[in-house]
Amino acid sequence: MRKQNSKSILITGVSRGLGLAMAEGFIARGHTVWGCGRSAKAVDEHRRRWGAPHQFDVVDVSRDEEVRAWAQRAKTAGFVPDLLLNNAALVNHNAPLWDVSADEFDQVIRVNISGVANVVRHFLPLMLPRSKGVIVNFSSGWGRSVSPEVAPYCATKWAIEGLTRALAEELPKGMAAVPLNPGIIDTDMLRSCFGADAGSYPSPKEWAKGAVPFLLTLWAKDNGRALTVGEEG
Ligand SMILES: NC(=O)c1ccc[n+]([C@@H]2O[C@H](COP(=O)([O-])OP(=O)(O)OC[C@H]3O[C@@H](n4cnc5c(N)ncnc54)[C@H](OP(=O)(O)O)[C@@H]3O)[C@@H](O)[C@H]2O)c1
Repeated sequence: MRKQNSKSILITGVSRGLGLAMAEGFIARGHTVWGCGRSAKAVDEHRRRWGAPHQFDVVDVSRDEEVRAWAQRAKTAGFVPDLLLNNAALVNHNAPLWDVSADEFDQVIRVNISGVANVVRHFLPLMLPRSKGVIVNFSSGWGRSVSPEVAPYCATKWAIEGLTRALAEELPKGMAAVPLNPGIIDTDMLRSCFGADAGSYPSPKEWAKGAVPFLLTLWAKDNGRALTVGEEG
């Protein structure tokens, strides 16, 4: 069902976790979702589950050329995001910083920071002519505090806070960029950090019941605000 005030929503990292739960929630409310992930299997399942006007693509956000081609396809299709959710991210395997390999460290930086910049670089120019739209860069409690064994991840989420607040100062009037701490949710990422204890936190579906309507309320006045799901107001 597509409704009159249907928004066009771009979500990175829709294979599973929060990205998938948001895609389900927005589509159920009549909005149009374009999403990406690295998993061809997940993208294929989403394509079979949701046809046009929704669109799912295999895109690795850390690869600038793939993001460029994705944005070009959006431009050709006339898809301009009203809401751009930079959700895709990785966490390092729990370890003290000195035991994290250079490859793993670089990969976390490439996805969590460069990936966000790549998406902004190629999709923001589609949004600018309308001076309208909201960019939400997923941060974390670990973008505002720290814990041991997740130093690379913390570094990226603190970076997202700064990157987003600086971007907010660059945007024309009418647009917004916000760093968002989604809260603590039982996803693969949380299982990697917390093990079985992750089971005591809400599922992505439960989380999305509050997060999806909240995300739809964001607008120009929120520009530059560091937000947290469940602490809106
Ligand atoms: N869960 C929490 O409690 C929590 C707390 C604070 C912040 N967050 C943030 O919330 C966001 C979602 O987290 P989550 O818990 O849902 O994580 P998740 O369950 O690990 O899911 C991550 C998603 O990102 C995708 N992804 C990873 N690397 C990618 C890449 N290079 N290109 C495109 N897609 C990629 C994954 O799909 P593929 O593997 O198919 O690519 C997957 O769909 C992240 O930004 C995370 O840092 C989560």
